Amino acid sequence: MKHFLSLADISRTDLVDLLELAMQLKDEWRSGGNAPLLRGKVLAMVFQKPSLRTRVSFDMAMRHLGGDALYLSPNEIGLGQRESIADVSRVLSRYVQGIMARVFAHDDVVELARHATVPVINGLSDFSHPCQGLADLLTIREHLGRTEGVRLTYLGDGNNVATSLAFGCALLGMDFTIASPPGYALPEAVVARARGLAGDREFVDLIPDPHAAVRGTHVIYTDTWTSMGQEEEAERRAKVFPPYQVNASLVRVADPKVIVMHCLPAHRGQEITDEVADGPRSVLFDQAENRLHAQKAILARLMA
Ligand code: CP
Ligand code: NVA
Repeated sequence: MKHFLSLADISRTDLVDLLELAMQLKDEWRSGGNAPLLRGKVLAMVFQKPSLRTRVSFDMAMRHLGGDALYLSPNEIGLGQRESIADVSRVLSRYVQGIMARVFAHDDVVELARHATVPVINGLSDFSHPCQGLADLLTIREHLGRTEGVRLTYLGDGNNVATSLAFGCALLGMDFTIASPPGYALPEAVVARARGLAGDREFVDLIPDPHAAVRGTHVIYTDTWTSMGQEEEAERRAKVFPPYQVNASLVRVADPKVIVMHCLPAHRGQEITDEVADGPRSVLFDQAENRLHAQKAILARLMA
């Protein structure tokens, strides 16, 4: 594993290894602190979009592992505008030992990786959010004690987060069901790729009715109806997504021990109600915490 750009690019073995290492590093952190695996190393964090979790968890992960992180804000380096992505990548590679980038176009993070001589991590693109996916798989494993055979139902936009979950579920022998309004389904290429990763199993259930989709499911997952960069579509989206809201009546249809997940930031009262987000089945803040532990595993494997 040279870079971490999409869960579809890594093997099942790498994914299982990252999850196991994340659990070890989490235990180690909780029992007094991590060994300084990344002493003297710096991660450059390039952001074209806002962030709370990704920014803070990568920064803290580097510090806990004895290294440091450098935040580069959207206007600072003008990725692809002030300077070509290739040149930014070549220059950063002379200064730092790793690059994490949050971009609009996925091709931009691929381009960064193509020209970098240091590892590149995708901190969210329009196509995927693999760091979130890894933290979510860790959270499922902790709460349900397994991933194999677990059924995850995603409600809402077939977006970057849904894509990473589909790939992760495919690699780990989970079932993936998605219910989206017409016009907002997971892209066909993503469904095909996820089916390819899942091998011979029946994989990716596309069920339009949200109640039918969550019946008996072990995990309910949702995300914003309008992702960063789609703000001008917000009004149109707000008209078609309400039937896919994760609320108490929907949660009642799922498995009694269902866990409810959201990558955050949440738009309470839209894709999820307060009652569910703050209710007994919610694991939203465990997911947020696990970004820290999961990313330590990525950083350790790529940069140590
Ligand atoms: N879930 C997530 O990536 O959050 P941020 O946008 O705050 O980083
Ligand atoms: N789908 C959302 C995820 C935010 C963490 C977005 O891309 O804005």
